[in-house]
Amino acid sequence: MTVATDILALRLDHPENLMARHFSADYFSGLAKDDQARVLKIIKSGLDNPDSQMGAYAQHSVDYDDFGPLLDPMIRDYHKISAGVDIAQKHDWSATASACSLEDIDEALRDVSMRVRVGRNVASFPLPGAMTKADRIEFEKVMVKAFENLKNDADFCGAYYSLTPGSDFELKGQAYQTRVDAHQMFKDMSGDRYLNSGGISSDWPYGRGMYISAAEDFIVWVGEEDHLRIMAMKRGGDLAALFARLQVGLEKFSALVPAFAHSEKYGYITSCPTNLGTAMRASLHMALPNLTGGGQDLDAAKAAAQKFGLSVRGVGGEHSGAGQGGIIDISPSARLGVTESEIMQRLFDGAKALWLLETKT
Ligand code: ARG
Repeated sequence: MTVATDILALRLDHPENLMARHFSADYFSGLAKDDQARVLKIIKSGLDNPDSQMGAYAQHSVDYDDFGPLLDPMIRDYHKISAGVDIAQKHDWSATASACSLEDIDEALRDVSMRVRVGRNVASFPLPGAMTKADRIEFEKVMVKAFENLKNDADFCGAYYSLTPGSDFELKGQAYQTRVDAHQMFKDMSGDRYLNSGGISSDWPYGRGMYISAAEDFIVWVGEEDHLRIMAMKRGGDLAALFARLQVGLEKFSALVPAFAHSEKYGYITSCPTNLGTAMRASLHMALPNLTGGGQDLDAAKAAAQKFGLSVRGVGGEHSGAGQGGIIDISPSARLGVTESEIMQRLFDGAKALWLLETKT
């Protein structure tokens, strides 16, 4: 059996697996041996996990250029950009200056859990899937220096916690679990079969950690699926203030670290092709008991949300079920070909549309 025949079989059984859908045996067999080896690493997650939605993780920033004929069709399919259309990612945060509050939809939405994150990778390091243990430890050291600086900023001062065994800032046991339960820290990555196949969770928990501001509303994850996940979290309804918090923190933090990997075409480079572009995921936890059939039926809510360009997850993160009272996590699906401001607007518009549907049923 060759890889090509394996993938053909996979395509028939799992048409949703975008790697399998777009893999071209001709393209692959035309590559030099070492490039074939690189491609096999990129698509390993999709091969090992037939139920993958994307089925690939870039290992180096240059993979998106080097293997365009493989990755570009997958990217376009996921982000719904037709073959003939130019991709040239633009960035725009200007809407953070405007008033945009969930309370304008309904008074009841004044105390919502809101979160917005962006993924970033430092250009001078391999992407997480290809990092050695030494790379991971070195990367964390570079970040710790930046955080020491950020601690001097009155608005963003805070603390760094490391999962690296023996670290001066070590977070472990129950203290770690408490941060995970509070949705501040990421879960044990070694339990994620997609990340395991992509090499991304290797050497867990070395080089992993988080910075959290004193107000606990600005957080930087180190060493998860991307080198950095930079986020703002708040309870309330003021969406513009949430985005502005991230924008300012991101600007300040970016000035303290080496340059991020970025492409004119795909925007910010991320491990997973689903996150390219803005690399932004903005979400709300909303209680939608009617749309979730009393909290039991995540699929019903997914179908409703899809019409408004939103994705639905359980509140326990990716691949989790709906929470008590039908609380679900909604976020605009698009990351590439939209700006940061458009994502904020789509989250607001989508939340409004879903809320109307929920309250009239
Ligand atoms: N590798 C998984 C798949 O292909 C995850 C895709 C999106 N999620 C993510 N965290 N990048 O289905």
